[in-house]
Amino acid sequence: MSNYILKQFSQQPAMIDISFTLNGETTTITTDPLRRLLDILRDDLGLTGTKEGCGEGECGACTVLLDGKPVTSCIVNAVAVHGHDVTTIEGVSASPDGRLLIDCLYEAEAVQCGFCFPGIVMSALAYMRAGGIADNERIRAALAGNLCRCTGYEFIVKGVAEACRRWRDL
Ligand code: FES
Ligand code: FES
Repeated sequence: MSNYILKQFSQQPAMIDISFTLNGETTTITTDPLRRLLDILRDDLGLTGTKEGCGEGECGACTVLLDGKPVTSCIVNAVAVHGHDVTTIEGVSASPDGRLLIDCLYEAEAVQCGFCFPGIVMSALAYMRAGGIADNERIRAALAGNLCRCTGYEFIVKGVAEACRRWRDL
């Protein structure tokens, strides 16, 4: 075998099986362990609701929940989700609190271009599930990792606060 071919083989990433729970369903894929979770979701599994903005963990567009905590999936490797629980925007409307949150954000007119929206929903849902209350400053802190270029955040915070209020009163 020529050195060239040997070199090509040595550059192939080792593939491993990754099993995790995705939106409530057990999922197994065979992949490069260093592949980005964002790419697995969008390209391998067709869940394109999760968006890519900066690709560097700064904008929050790619936020998903990993064991209930918001993470930026552009900087999470495949191996990090093995045995864990991942929720994406596609899994949110199946839950009553997620549905309520989305409704409240729409009612508050918190969506303009919508690019940031999936990531904001994921961070806000984690806030609600951690017992978050309708406090504007706390909500802003919870969403600090999610950039929105359109809304100025006021309507987003209003929508999340309303969701916290209604969820508490249910
Ligand atoms: S695309 Fe992941 S944080 Fe910006
Ligand atoms: S609605 Fe456009 S970036 Fe947030």
